[in-house]
Amino acid sequence: NRDYADVSMAVIRRLPKYHRYLKDLLDKEIYRISSRELSRMIGFTASQIRQDLNCFGGFGQQGYGYNVEELYNEISKILGLHKSYTTVIIGAGNLGQAIANYPSFMKYGFKLLGLFDVNPKLIGMKIRDIDIFDVDALEEYVIKNNVEIGIICTPKEVAQDIADKLTRANVSGIWNFAPIDIKVPGNVTVENVHLSESLFILSYLLNEKEYLNK
Ligand code: NAI
Repeated sequence: NRDYADVSMAVIRRLPKYHRYLKDLLDKEIYRISSRELSRMIGFTASQIRQDLNCFGGFGQQGYGYNVEELYNEISKILGLHKSYTTVIIGAGNLGQAIANYPSFMKYGFKLLGLFDVNPKLIGMKIRDIDIFDVDALEEYVIKNNVEIGIICTPKEVAQDIADKLTRANVSGIWNFAPIDIKVPGNVTVENVHLSESLFILSYLLNEKEYLNK
């Protein structure tokens, strides 16, 4: 994705939404769409959409609109979804199991190889057909199987230790659900997911009118 290195992160963070809507259009066998229609669906302004998509070179044609399939494929490529990735989940509790039970990540090329936990009651069990291993075997497993992404679903107290292990075992990415900011060297990329942040924004929006009236 070198070509897109100068595209701002703000634009990149909007791409998954375009990707989702374009997929819906393809599923409905709609192959062509104007920025105005896209705007009506997604809620970004038409000019925002034109600006965003122009960053990636002329997919839109005056009077024709966008070729949905071409745009979908290009955005998939920018997002790296044309590749596949190997992943493991650390922490096979409520959240780890929920993620393991959600097969649509697989559809996009994220292959879950195993889960890891400390709880002897969980070790040896399977989620769908995927094994839960002892976390003591994590580093060796990650190295041996060239695991690229570690998904941290442990309590926050051990998350940094898990991140260090994953780093030593050469993962390239960490998808962190534990509510702490883990520290990793520059060759490892971390993406944090904190549902509470989104929930607090909802709470803010629900209270916004009150703030404004004060
Ligand atoms: P849970 O208690 O059900 O699962 C945690 C699992 O981690 C347990 O199975 C436990 O045995 C295991 N574990 C503990 N120490 C470990 C270690 N050193 N190595 C490997 N496994 C270890 O908790 P739940 O509800 O699944 O939450 C997991 C984490 O995700 C927590 O940090 C929680 O705060 C966070 N969370 C984050 C959300 C988000 O939006 N980012 C939403 C919900 C939970």
